[in-house]
Amino acid sequence: MHVLGIETSCDETAAAVVRDARTVLSNVVTSSLKEHQRYGGVIPEIASRRQLEFMYPIVQEALAQAHLDIRAIDGVAVTRAPGLIGSLLVGVSFARALAWALRKPLVEVDHIEAHAYANFLCEEQPTLPAVVLVVSGGHTSLYGVKDIRHFKLLGKTIDDAAGEAFDKVARILGLGYPGGPAIDRLAKTVSETPISFSCAALSGTWNFSFSGIKTAVLYHWRKKDAYHRGTVAQVAHAFQKSVVDILVQKSLAACRKLKSKTLLIGGGVAANSSLRKHLQQRAREDGINVYLPRLDLCMDNAAMIAGLGSHMLI
Ligand code: KG4
Ligand code: ZN
Repeated sequence: MHVLGIETSCDETAAAVVRDARTVLSNVVTSSLKEHQRYGGVIPEIASRRQLEFMYPIVQEALAQAHLDIRAIDGVAVTRAPGLIGSLLVGVSFARALAWALRKPLVEVDHIEAHAYANFLCEEQPTLPAVVLVVSGGHTSLYGVKDIRHFKLLGKTIDDAAGEAFDKVARILGLGYPGGPAIDRLAKTVSETPISFSCAALSGTWNFSFSGIKTAVLYHWRKKDAYHRGTVAQVAHAFQKSVVDILVQKSLAACRKLKSKTLLIGGGVAANSSLRKHLQQRAREDGINVYLPRLDLCMDNAAMIAGLGSHMLI
């Protein structure tokens, strides 16, 4: 079965073809990111107008890379929510029209569940039940998952998402947007720092909070005394360490509580090198199998939409 996936929930316009719910035949993503950079965040109106222009050529490119004629498609999958409403509308309208014209089924997919599904786009399929952590620019949520269609929310951020904290801290430090990759790169250049921050533990819950640490970084960075303020790299390192610590700690604690031997991670922040390294190390000590999608499947993409869509169609 060949499913065409379409994803337009934020700044990206993406199309992909997935075979039999696990093999990625093509995965094409373009973004209007550069146009948002000077505003420090995504401007919805710019995003949706670009998506309107990019949608058709991106779908053609995804089909060409998969060496498939559009008539060979067995179904169309599209991101239904959550996301920017104007952007979602472009993708959903396009997908509906295409499915109708082809007389093929249309399946609407949840963006967050699709981030988790990215772990199934490979030969070795994770075993369920699992704990799932989705960490992106818009979401930080922990779920207990019995099967891929049933997500039970354990906890989520009560304020900023982890990726949003990376973006805001990068802005404070003058590193531009998006902040995650810049902080990740810079944090690697130092091994230790006397500076430390901590994220609110919110003990007794599976919730997260990242707005306090962003403010702590802001006040720290305003210090006049350059010696105690440290370098940009040191601050980036200390900030990243505290975010990674809380994500690792809570997801492994959830695995222990739910007696789950599988931990699945998804979303843009799952591309963070320190999170990947520490999760793998700590999970191994606890006897838990941790799954991390390949980097291009962590960020917003349409392969995860096509994958979950085909799973639902099958
Ligand atoms: O999943 P995604 O592409 O879009 C949303 O659904 O939000 O995630 C984007 C977020 C941004 O906040 C970006 O700064 C963050 O993922 N991100 C990272 C890294 N790469 C992207 N955060 C930390 N480290 C990274 N390497
Ligand atoms: Zn996303």
